[in-house]
Amino acid sequence: MLTNRPRGTNDILPGQVEKWQLIEETMRCISAEYNYQEIRTPIFEHTELFIRGVGETTDIVEKEMYTFVDRGERSVTLRPEGTAPVVRSYLENRLNSGPQPVKLYYTGPMFRYDRPQSGRYRQFHQVGVEAFGSHHPALDAEVMSMAMEFYRRIGLVDVELHINSVGCPECRPQLKEKLCEYFRPRESDLCSNCRQRLVKNPLRIIDCKNPGCQEIAKDAPTPLDHLCSDCKEHFDSVCEYLKALGIPFVINPRLVRGLDYYTHTAFEIMAKGLGAQSSVGGGGRYNRLIEECGGPSIPGIGYALGVERIILALEQQGVETAPSPGPDVFVAILTPDLKADAFKILSKLRKKGISSDQDYLGRSLKAQMKYASKINAKYTIIVGNDELEREMVILREMDTGEQSEVPVEDAAAKIKERLASCTD
Ligand code: HAM
Repeated sequence: MLTNRPRGTNDILPGQVEKWQLIEETMRCISAEYNYQEIRTPIFEHTELFIRGVGETTDIVEKEMYTFVDRGERSVTLRPEGTAPVVRSYLENRLNSGPQPVKLYYTGPMFRYDRPQSGRYRQFHQVGVEAFGSHHPALDAEVMSMAMEFYRRIGLVDVELHINSVGCPECRPQLKEKLCEYFRPRESDLCSNCRQRLVKNPLRIIDCKNPGCQEIAKDAPTPLDHLCSDCKEHFDSVCEYLKALGIPFVINPRLVRGLDYYTHTAFEIMAKGLGAQSSVGGGGRYNRLIEECGGPSIPGIGYALGVERIILALEQQGVETAPSPGPDVFVAILTPDLKADAFKILSKLRKKGISSDQDYLGRSLKAQMKYASKINAKYTIIVGNDELEREMVILREMDTGEQSEVPVEDAAAKIKERLASCTD
């Protein structure tokens, strides 16, 4: 028990963490280029925020939240997603009173009590953006192009952008009516979840993953067939912008996302080779959410990309990331009495920005050299009594075994020179 991590969680170890760093760094770079600023919100929020924000009838709220009562008798929930918290923060910090749109990005862990399997975890990570304060379809195209640029930059190929419009409160009631008309006679053949959805949220039946429901829903009315004129105009315009930007997309009339806040544009990005968990990211517009959360009527749009799934997809597609290199220098000592002198040399190297390390287990020189080679040090500085008396050390290149004496004072500069010539 003490040596087992909780089900559905992962340790991210050296060797793997480089992929995470690449993803986070890429997100930072792209966000700067698209003028999105970072926001960090708490890992837990008042439960009510997700019930109101994500929607009472969603799987997330009904079955997947990590909710608990804290010592002050308040119900709090580990965030299952990032949009509702960012909306809460936008309102609480009155970001709506500054220039609009406000464009924000985030990275971090999310929590859903789901059945763990490959690509589906209880603690997983997202990188995402939210943009508030504009209805303009160009902003829809911007966030989608940003997501696609992200995949391109990290080297993920074979990803497909699926888009749809899920309508707005104008066109929804008519669609719901049509869906109920269609599904009611077939109710007994639906799965138990969908039978409940028929009462609470019939739109969600369209993208149920149960094969029986999929077969029944094949000919069901879709939101695209029932858009009001505003929604239709908006959707056509989004498609035009995407075409103008040269971003390939598939219109998927059956795409209905699992969170209730979406209006107008909904999109998902699928990667080949991930089986059932093929969605590496998704998002859409949520023009009513800010109001739902107690704010003024302000539109919003965003996406979140699943870090674990992106890494799985990269591995499936054979994309390699470079492992962390070893230190530039290992400082070895001939005899234990030289430890303090060696430590001073090590400290100087580090201050000059040269990654370096030493022995902490009292190893013999031979064992220190073996260790330096195991951790892939590029150079070893050997500190010996005779050399130190002349204010010299031995510099050894680990790959070639080539050794020379260098003045202690010049060691850092010499190493920097050699490292620079290696990367030229
Ligand atoms: P979502 O579709 O629930 O949307 O999640 C976005 C992505 O997170 C998914 O496409 C998937 O890659 C990843 N993901 C979701 N659940 C898991 C899980 N249990 N294990 C591993 N990865 C997972 C949202 O969360 C919305 N907040 C996106 C958004 C932002 N919409 C507007 N703005």
